[in-house]
Amino acid sequence: MSIVIRNGTLVTHDRSWKADLRIEGGRIAEIGEGLTGETELDATGCYVMPGGIDPHTHLEMPFMGTYSSDDFDSGTRAALSGGTTMVVDFALPSPGQGLLDALQMWDNKSTRAHCDYSFHMAVTWWGEQVFDEMKTVIETRGITSFKHFMAYKGALMVNDDELFASFRRLAELGGIAMVHAENGDVVAELQAKLMAEGNTGPEAHAYSRPSQVEGEAANRAIMIADMAGVPLYVVHVSCEEAHEAIRRARQQGKRVWGEPLIQHLTLDESEYQHPDWDHAARRVMSPPFRDKRHQDSLWAGLQAGSLSVVATDHCAFTTEQKRYGLGDFTKIPNGTGGLEDRMPMLWTHGVATGRLTPEEFVAVTSTNVAKILNCYPRKGALIPGADADIVVWDPEREKTISAASQVSAIDYNVFEGHRVKGLPRYTITRGHVAVTEGSLQSREGHGQFVARQGNGTVNRALSKWKDLTAPRPVARSGIPASGV
Ligand code: URP
Ligand code: ZN
Ligand code: ZN
Repeated sequence: MSIVIRNGTLVTHDRSWKADLRIEGGRIAEIGEGLTGETELDATGCYVMPGGIDPHTHLEMPFMGTYSSDDFDSGTRAALSGGTTMVVDFALPSPGQGLLDALQMWDNKSTRAHCDYSFHMAVTWWGEQVFDEMKTVIETRGITSFKHFMAYKGALMVNDDELFASFRRLAELGGIAMVHAENGDVVAELQAKLMAEGNTGPEAHAYSRPSQVEGEAANRAIMIADMAGVPLYVVHVSCEEAHEAIRRARQQGKRVWGEPLIQHLTLDESEYQHPDWDHAARRVMSPPFRDKRHQDSLWAGLQAGSLSVVATDHCAFTTEQKRYGLGDFTKIPNGTGGLEDRMPMLWTHGVATGRLTPEEFVAVTSTNVAKILNCYPRKGALIPGADADIVVWDPEREKTISAASQVSAIDYNVFEGHRVKGLPRYTITRGHVAVTEGSLQSREGHGQFVARQGNGTVNRALSKWKDLTAPRPVARSGIPASGV
């Protein structure tokens, strides 16, 4: 069955133009004028864009004694409602568990997905098994990006020797290193001090994670990545100190990308001072929300291109789960939601305010990360042959965000009461129209896993060059770079 999207303005990361677009067999078949098809979708007044890719989600994730409440069913439905057509989730081995074993668990959970998805692998401990299985994960499973937690001491955190060993292995295999950049040792000390002084409430979560702990860890990870010769992706960049380190590294030609979250761009630290414990605890995440100076830095980074991608780190816990931390802020499960709201919030606060162009919006919500993760132009593009993951975006459609009408399974929304202007008229996932003006017709199990390739060929070429001319590799990956 063919679908034609008519009368819209196509927007990609590099241009906008008036054209129709025809979909067949789940892919974009043709772009041109006066196209016809069996089903016609009217895009008058709308932008037709590559569907959003959220490269940072935690669906049904075991964490802090519980599981995040949105799974691959509710999470991917929430994604589609907000114009996101692909998510990248983190397969997370528990300490001592093999990577392939953990992947099997994520394979099982993700069969419910309503939109396409891929995985990053987390490295939560180090040993020969992890070293060996990394090769299989990259070469057989098509998972090329590996996250390392520099925080959560005693749980997920890895130390510098483990970080360096893992980064070197990734350099050899053509993978990408990712980091959660916070100094976990310092956080643990500050948490203990605050608790001992009787600061047990959610506001102390923010005090225990000042921007310096993030800036220090980002700098350290960048230097370790440089020594290992591996490209580095810094997740949930929330502050100027971390952004400054990334900016500086990029200016020096290092292959480093930074990912701010929509929450850090639009919500600030005053949320933790709210008199209602539940309100503040629902917003506990790491890194915490920051002040205006940091928000301005993040927006400037998106405008200048020193930050590349806007994500959500969607890791949603119910109020009941958050209450595990009553009387001890260190036990509040860390994480917030946002999958459904990332695109409308970024359009409202980014494009409608004039901070970003529609093309930049496409770049930071979709195309840049498709390039970084090596699934472009299958994803993140409007060209014949690409997957028909498309959002028809109505810049005039408005709503007030509310938990009462959301798709996410939790009982609140951190953006409650925020007015957004700019919403999907249609969201299309591999040719299936999953959302029509707010009404969902998505299909459980429609989502497929997206395997990706590493940069082994380029790394081999680099090592040849290195043998001839240089004593150590530089962090060049060969990943398509322009403007990302
Ligand atoms: O608080 C957060 N960010 N929770 C999710 C896990 C992580 O650190 O990414
Ligand atoms: Zn993290
Ligand atoms: Zn995360």
